[in-house]
Amino acid sequence: MEEECKCCMNRRDLITTIAAVGGAFALTGTIEQSDAAMKWVVIGKAAEIKEVPKLFHVHDKAIYVFRDEKHKLHAISGICTHKGCTVDWHGPTHDFVCPCHGAVYTLMGKNVKGPARLPLVSIPVDEVKGKLRVDMNSVMKLHMP
Ligand code: FES
Repeated sequence: MEEECKCCMNRRDLITTIAAVGGAFALTGTIEQSDAAMKWVVIGKAAEIKEVPKLFHVHDKAIYVFRDEKHKLHAISGICTHKGCTVDWHGPTHDFVCPCHGAVYTLMGKNVKGPARLPLVSIPVDEVKGKLRVDMNSVMKLHMP
């Protein structure tokens, strides 16, 4: 009987881990981070954020920040999950629309129309003493599909 080397088993473990993380991402569209792994950076004033999503560019990554009806902050990637164009907020229909191939996402980033197969990615966001902060580690993980 042929015995598997440790190298192959490690590769299998790695592939299993990547598949699990990818699966979690595909289901939620969220980059999971523990609090200890977060690196908060200030990107603006929290008072400027209303219910209409406001576009920020953090390290050249497009991020929309908005408040829901309960005044809770949300940050979401503006990078279309189809081919990476920056989505536009479309106020009349209350959704994000990609100008490149027509993908449509809900306010919370769920892909609902067009070629995008994954939701927009949520980014941890908070406010401290009036300052708007996002988790830079999550921002740095955003990439073009
Ligand atoms: S890049 Fe957005 S729909 Fe193709």
